[in-house]
Amino acid sequence: MNESKNESNTEEILNLLFSYMPKIAEERKMDGLLILMADLGRSLVGADRCSLWLIDENKGEMWTKVAHGVDELRIPMNLGFVGHTVKTGESLCIKDAYKDSRFDSRSDQKTTYHTQSVLTVPLKNSEGAIIGVFQAINKKNPPYYFSPKDVEYLSLTAVYSGKTLESALLTKELEDTQAEILNILGEVSEHRSKETADHVTRVAASCYKMACYLGLSEYEANQIRLAAPLHDLGKVAIPDAILQKTGKFTPDEYEVMKTHTVMGHHLLKSSSRKLLQLAAEMAIGHHEHWDGSGYPKGLSGENIPLSSRICAVVDVFDALSSARCYKEAWSEEMVKDFFIKQKDHQFQKELIDILLLHWDDFISEYK
Ligand code: C2E
Ligand code: SIN
Ligand code: SIN
Ligand code: FE
Ligand code: FE
Repeated sequence: MNESKNESNTEEILNLLFSYMPKIAEERKMDGLLILMADLGRSLVGADRCSLWLIDENKGEMWTKVAHGVDELRIPMNLGFVGHTVKTGESLCIKDAYKDSRFDSRSDQKTTYHTQSVLTVPLKNSEGAIIGVFQAINKKNPPYYFSPKDVEYLSLTAVYSGKTLESALLTKELEDTQAEILNILGEVSEHRSKETADHVTRVAASCYKMACYLGLSEYEANQIRLAAPLHDLGKVAIPDAILQKTGKFTPDEYEVMKTHTVMGHHLLKSSSRKLLQLAAEMAIGHHEHWDGSGYPKGLSGENIPLSSRICAVVDVFDALSSARCYKEAWSEEMVKDFFIKQKDHQFQKELIDILLLHWDDFISEYK
């Protein structure tokens, strides 16, 4: 091998590493990390495509995230080169995938992509356990297959990536657990069946959409999404006879029901966690009206926290669009008319403008 070519290679590689390391060090999100590391791997070995596959033990699958892709990609854990590497811990360097019996050509068939050369190396955590696979596909330059040097570079990157991903995986696990617990609590507070579990999930998703359309940061929108399932937590304190009454409330029953706002606030307010503080704010404020005619305090305008104003719109949108034990679902037209009429009365004008502008996106959860 030519000496000087080797040197410039080393320099290029160092440059690549130095340009990626700070970005990787700053990235906190799993999806972002997977994409950055795949980019680094791809540049490092001159591949057309590169991805990091992580193990999902529960489902017996491997998953990854691609740039601009909305959803995760998933494959069965035991199939193909990735499956082989995850099972054996061996790296593979394949010249022509179609000549190898381990190749699973179904993804090629689905996308009309042609896989030829392949490189896979295992991703290990700090204890040496395999947590995933780094895969590069189709070397871009002659001889169009990967060299032992490429195996070495990708393996080095895999060691670094494995350790970084390990801590991100722990964080993701904690965040997923947190979101799940909040959702379960929200469902419990609704006391009820499957339908209501969906209510909680839909309200959370729609609050997030509304917050994003309003221009709140990804972080703020996500906090609102996480806190939203708890807005009716206070319903745990409402007797079933009232909560599940099939007919219209008497005025007295309605007064009892209204206390779910202060009850929820009471349950959550003693926590010093920011997220639960936000949930407390949404619990007490989500039945306030923009014009001051709501409860429990009769607050108006911007005296109502923004999170509560968002939750108020989304909660009523959900209540009207679906059937409740005391009412039928309204038609889409009736729901729309209601919100147009309540602009500046029950709800802040700007929020209704967003709801109407992105109507199809919001209503899609109900179709
Ligand atoms: P929910 O069923 O989720 O309804 C949330 C909010 O959507 C209601 O808050 C109200 O602002 C709006 N909404 C729901 N249905 C209608 C409707 O038919 N017309 C209009 N204009 N708005 C509607 P609200 O009224 O403070 O009620 C809070 C919660 O109290 C309701 O949550 C529901 O769980 C319960 N509730 C309210 N009224 C009745 C009732 O007559 N019977 C029963 N069984 N429960 C009721
Ligand atoms: C619900 O969300 O099912 C009840 C509505 C409310 O009290 O906000
Ligand atoms: C439901 O399950 O969503 C209807 C019960 C109610 O909101 O009162
Ligand atoms: Fe409520
Ligand atoms: Fe609600």
